[in-house]
Amino acid sequence: MLKGNLVVGQSGGPTAAINASLCGVIEGAMASGFDGKILGMVHGIEGLLKENFIDLGEIFADPADREKLVKTPSAYLGSCRKKLAKPEVDPTDYNAAFEVFKKHNIRYFLYIGGNDSMDTVYRLSEYAKKIDYDICIMGVPKTIDNDLNVTDHCPGYGSAAKFIATAIREMARDTRVYDMNSVLIVEIMGRNAGWLAAASALARGEGHPSPELIYLPEAPFKMDEFLEDVDALVKQKKVVIVAISEGIRDENGVYVCESTASGAVDVFGHKYLSGAGKVLENAVRDKLGYKARAVELNVFQRCAAHLASKTDLTESRAVGKAAAEAAISGMTGRMMAYVRESTNPYKLSVAPCDIAEAANIEKMVPREWLNERGNDVTEEFVAYARPLIEGESYPEYEDGLPVHIIRP
Ligand code: F6P
Repeated sequence: MLKGNLVVGQSGGPTAAINASLCGVIEGAMASGFDGKILGMVHGIEGLLKENFIDLGEIFADPADREKLVKTPSAYLGSCRKKLAKPEVDPTDYNAAFEVFKKHNIRYFLYIGGNDSMDTVYRLSEYAKKIDYDICIMGVPKTIDNDLNVTDHCPGYGSAAKFIATAIREMARDTRVYDMNSVLIVEIMGRNAGWLAAASALARGEGHPSPELIYLPEAPFKMDEFLEDVDALVKQKKVVIVAISEGIRDENGVYVCESTASGAVDVFGHKYLSGAGKVLENAVRDKLGYKARAVELNVFQRCAAHLASKTDLTESRAVGKAAAEAAISGMTGRMMAYVRESTNPYKLSVAPCDIAEAANIEKMVPREWLNERGNDVTEEFVAYARPLIEGESYPEYEDGLPVHIIRP
């Protein structure tokens, strides 16, 4: 075991389960007989560069606080959307990061995040080798988008999927209240991969027929076919619920929302997307004359801890713990991933994978998990996703509201 301190950070968009992974990292370090400090970087790598640390070992010494952390949504440590330049292009951040590592004797670095965050893990671990600095650097997967390569699914996805399916069921009850034709379009996050919108299919069953149509970025969106399908379904059923990914695009790869989006991009160069639902709402109203309403699930789907999946929280905590234990036992340059042993009965294990295989690669919904017309998902997808939303994990409530643990 290297003698020194451990630092953990959270990066990218928040989820309902990212704090469960943080708790897992803390508990993994505690369980490993590690005797250094367990530090948290505030706002990810940006906080590290500013030496903005808090002592998580001290703050979460009491197991009761760790239980609260697991059930608190978003990123306790704060997050960032910073991507490191390649060191051969600009070594500034690498030099600064390793100066901080040396100054604080940091020998373990754990980063909880998605594709771009795994790129940080990859680059830092390669740089450490290059300059011969002894440090164990491990990635912990996280993203509601479920688009990380190698891992069977991503921590945070199950809870977002559960929220989406629940919200669709409830909105479907609302929409069916009148005896009139109407179309509800539900816009769901997912820029390039449609895993989240696909999860709307989980709402079906037990007398719930919605959503009637599902559109993902993995199949080109054709406006004429969409209007045809909506029209036919309204004539048959009166009320139609449509689930779409924010990132649906036409055959030329142009986002449906581009007619309304500002074109602004984030620091990774990703376009800010929203408005596809509105485009479809207007099309249904103008071309078909039906009452139409678009709802954007937006940030609600990311941090709905009151509807978290117990499976997701349990797995997220376990993967964080396994990553910390692996780092402390000397592993570096890897991401701890989920391996599905079987779907029925559902059985999962965790195993390390090569970080280069996880960084920067977006895993899409397989085309064969969509039907031929590209307006629904297949039973294979449902069988894959169903176990991930199982189980409830209610937060503590006080004065009628959920209790969250907030960074001082
Ligand atoms: O973290 C992934 C994600 O939730 C995407 O689904 C979404 O497009 C994006 O984050 C939005 O990011 P931000 O909150 O930084 O605008």
